[in-house]
Amino acid sequence: MNFLKWIIPSRNERELKKLWPLVRRINEIEAGLQKLSDDELRQKTADWKARLSQIQDKTESARALNEILPEAFAVVKNACRRLTERKTEIIVREHPLLWEMIPFDVQLIGGYGLHSGRIAEMATGEGKTLVATLPIYLNALTGRGVHLVTVNDYLAARDSEWMGAIYKFLGLTVGCILHDQPPRVRREQYNCDITFGTNAEFGFDYLRDNGMAARKEEQVQRGHYFAIVDEVDSILIDEARTPLIISGPSVHTYDEQFGQWKPLVESLVRAQERLCARFLSEAEALIKKLNPTDGSNPQNPEALEHEIGLLLFRVKIGQPKSEGLMKLLEDPENLKLMNRAELDLHKDQKKVDLYREKEELLFAIDEKSFEADLTEKGRNFVSPKDPEAFVLPELTTALHEIDAGPEPDARKRMEAKTKVQQDFETKAQKIHAISQLLKAYSLYQLDVEYVIQENKVIIVDQHTGRLMPGRRWSDGLHQAVEAKEGVEIEHETQTLATITIQNYFRLYEKLAGMTGTAETEASEFFDIYKLGVLVIPTNEPCVRKDANDAVYKTRREKFNTVLNEIKQIHAQGRPILVGTISVEVSEQLSRMLKREGIIHSVLNAKYHQQEAEIITRAGQRGAVTIATNMAGRGTDIKLGPGVAELGGLHVMGTERHEARRIDRQLRGRCARQGDPGSSHFFISLEDDLMRLFGSDRIVKMMERMGLEEGQELTHPWLNRSIQQAQKRVEQHNFQIRKRTLEFDDVMNKQREVIYGFRNEIIHGEDVRDRLMDIMEEVVVDKVAQFTNAESEFSEWKTRPLADWVNLNFPIGLPEAEILKSADSGKEHPVPGSLFDGLSPAQFAVCNFISDSVRKAYDLKISFENPDALKEVERFTILSAIDRLWQEHLYEMDSLRYSIGLRGYGQRDPLIEYKAEAFKIFDELMINVKTEICHNIFRSASSMLAFENFLKNVPQQTLHQAASAFGGTSTASSGGAQARPSDVVSEAAAAVAEKAKPVRTGPKVGRNDPCPCGSGKKYKHCCGR
Ligand SMILES: Nc1ncnc2c1ncn2[C@@H]1O[C@H](COP(=O)(O)OP(=O)(O)OP(=O)(O)O)[C@@H](O)[C@H]1O
Ligand SMILES: [Mg+2]
Repeated sequence: MNFLKWIIPSRNERELKKLWPLVRRINEIEAGLQKLSDDELRQKTADWKARLSQIQDKTESARALNEILPEAFAVVKNACRRLTERKTEIIVREHPLLWEMIPFDVQLIGGYGLHSGRIAEMATGEGKTLVATLPIYLNALTGRGVHLVTVNDYLAARDSEWMGAIYKFLGLTVGCILHDQPPRVRREQYNCDITFGTNAEFGFDYLRDNGMAARKEEQVQRGHYFAIVDEVDSILIDEARTPLIISGPSVHTYDEQFGQWKPLVESLVRAQERLCARFLSEAEALIKKLNPTDGSNPQNPEALEHEIGLLLFRVKIGQPKSEGLMKLLEDPENLKLMNRAELDLHKDQKKVDLYREKEELLFAIDEKSFEADLTEKGRNFVSPKDPEAFVLPELTTALHEIDAGPEPDARKRMEAKTKVQQDFETKAQKIHAISQLLKAYSLYQLDVEYVIQENKVIIVDQHTGRLMPGRRWSDGLHQAVEAKEGVEIEHETQTLATITIQNYFRLYEKLAGMTGTAETEASEFFDIYKLGVLVIPTNEPCVRKDANDAVYKTRREKFNTVLNEIKQIHAQGRPILVGTISVEVSEQLSRMLKREGIIHSVLNAKYHQQEAEIITRAGQRGAVTIATNMAGRGTDIKLGPGVAELGGLHVMGTERHEARRIDRQLRGRCARQGDPGSSHFFISLEDDLMRLFGSDRIVKMMERMGLEEGQELTHPWLNRSIQQAQKRVEQHNFQIRKRTLEFDDVMNKQREVIYGFRNEIIHGEDVRDRLMDIMEEVVVDKVAQFTNAESEFSEWKTRPLADWVNLNFPIGLPEAEILKSADSGKEHPVPGSLFDGLSPAQFAVCNFISDSVRKAYDLKISFENPDALKEVERFTILSAIDRLWQEHLYEMDSLRYSIGLRGYGQRDPLIEYKAEAFKIFDELMINVKTEICHNIFRSASSMLAFENFLKNVPQQTLHQAASAFGGTSTASSGGAQARPSDVVSEAAAAVAEKAKPVRTGPKVGRNDPCPCGSGKKYKHCCGR
């Protein structure tokens, strides 16, 4: 392999070779530019900008840029020359800095790499900051806004000030997005030709603009044209592991329930434990009987076996983590009996026996489907007087009965329904809380699934054993565990808007990146972002000396050697940079150095500015700096006087990182720009990487060589084996990230639809047409739901249809009118139209209803302030979208979670997830539209307008309208200037009926038994 590399130039080399003529050309042009005046040079910017602004077509524009490229790069280079020759001083982060940079040839190549939408891999200190100015200047000429993305606020501010000198000299504007800026300032920054900022700031602005802003003026970004990502590996790979999330307090909080039910559940769990202990001892007795010690044959062994199996199964669903059970199941014979019994129970379609077995217990837990239910016995235990308090009423039947009942007044019927629903919801909450508590007690063990630290429940990642602070189980489970442990029960938060880093950066028309280390992750960059990697040679040859890795048996020995090496090199006066993979190791090392009396600094990537200042001094004589891998990235370590003669900076790695990239990054911190320098990594067999992924061959080899305590092993072969281990982990992590992304892609499509919808409303001049379209769609949907093309009119559910219409729109539609319009229907709807598939009768009913609504709306308009009404309409739509979309995010979270748990089965969880996500998204869209319809007549720009309108709805409909609208003031009384959003939310609050009561209420879990009493799960029944 290496041999081939040596004789055949790689693709990268061929590519570079092709670029040298371009470099010559740029340099020639630049020589010619030297005679121009400053103004003449600047004029080029203006001319190009004017020319490019004429070009609308994107390919055309890209072609023009390529044409301009050599001259534009030359202009930038020439501007650098002018600043250098004049010894220009620039204030960067409040310190004066002399500009003394003119791009080297390799930097021109790097600039080309970025412009062509690739990652330029250039070693540390090669001046990537300057490289970026070339493509940024060129692309900013389009006026469409170029974004430069950094890893932290400090670097964004530093580089916008530092490189800003060039842009300003050439007549372009530069902005920088910082954490605490208000929207007005942010918008100004985005309106600049070039905008600097961190990935999080850019991403959050996108989420706020598209998921939360209520009007154009609140949006700050202006599109996603071209982004250059600095330290691209860190942002697009490391940070991309966690999505950006904006969250707010959850509407699904019933936290107090958990504390309230805890004592009861505790005694329930204890009673069940006693019960299970009895079953276990019975099982043990039977097992003895089955295997008599005297060698005789047992009587009726089959019945015995069955009985044992059932007893074990009962314990499995009653107390899944029972130690006694685990012990018995260690005997494969017992496991077999239990599994056989379980299989038998499931064979029966009606599951009568299974049900009976469960009824032997107080509650039953199903680990796989993650359900916990109280049994009859359990209900009697918790509520001896009223066991029914824990049974969900049959909601659908109850609602149906009210619909079909004798009550003529729609409003009274609605009130009755609301009451039934409320009862249902209260009970559902109670049952849900108890079920989560049961799971918390039965399935979650302290120090296994979670730990308690500083009075918080922290989840333990079951794959890596790592703690995951900040993460919470969803759907109340976390609160249940908090209640169980007696720590403070935290409020549940809810995601308001979220996007992964991957999907944010995929929004850009063109993306590029730069880093010292991209090559090892090239395939991931390509797979996910379609980013190629161009490796750029260094300006000066690199003379760094990399020692072979030193391998030890134990961590203790390793750290002793690290300490000795620090002492020894420190004594020579050479500066040392020690890299660690965690804050914890940094601190441990710091303590060791303190004991030895060695003065040093520790950097944890927390205080970016301060740490940047410390790291600039890390190359001074005698400096010792300990840093985690992210600390001080992007800051140059210049050697102090006399340090080069001593051998330059010495870099030490105290462990191999999971990714080779991070190690390369650390190594690259020394020997920049042709400086001398050296690096040395230390490893022990106790390191995580070696324990989990190191091959047995390493261990065997070490044993063969009879490695003793304190002895060191080094060999080039070992370096390779360790790299192999790292490659395995990289692959593994890549797979995980890819998988996460596949799940997120589902969400991403939904987000695009919703954000598109929102933007259409925000940017539309007049949303009334859209509003009426939506109304029509919902009407068609409802008509199709309550009527049937094939059946007789007499079988149509005209009464619920009329009820629905009258509860939503003030048109006082009598049931008879529906039939009358149906009778008149002769025309078939146009194929492909919204009405396609309806019969002429249904079509006529739709038109009749929609026309009446339109007329009523026209009447409403006549009482309104036209401008204010426009705003109200916008808010009516947006608030429905936002409220339900947030609900939906919550539901998607729970879905994702429950699918994860279902992943054991043979089915591919991703496929299941997609199918269910699709279904609930469909529902979401319908619910949004229904809610919009519901609110259009309930919002007004002022109290007066609303009252006048109510007074003027036609006589015969007045009663209906008033009753359906509650007759209460649903508009705020602030006069015409009332904030429309208040109006809408009050109106919504005044409305009792909801689009879909079961869904929007405080949750029937998708896996809970369906409230209609069918015995099926909710999601397979009414929750479909
Ligand atoms: N063409 C040049 N001529 C002279 N000095 C230069 C030139 N380009 C860059 N430098 C200097 O090189 C140093 C490193 O630059 P910079 O921080 O941009 O490197 P980098 O490649 O971004 O490194 P890192 O990987 O650490 O972010 C700076 O001090 C800068 O002034
Ligand atoms: Mg940099």
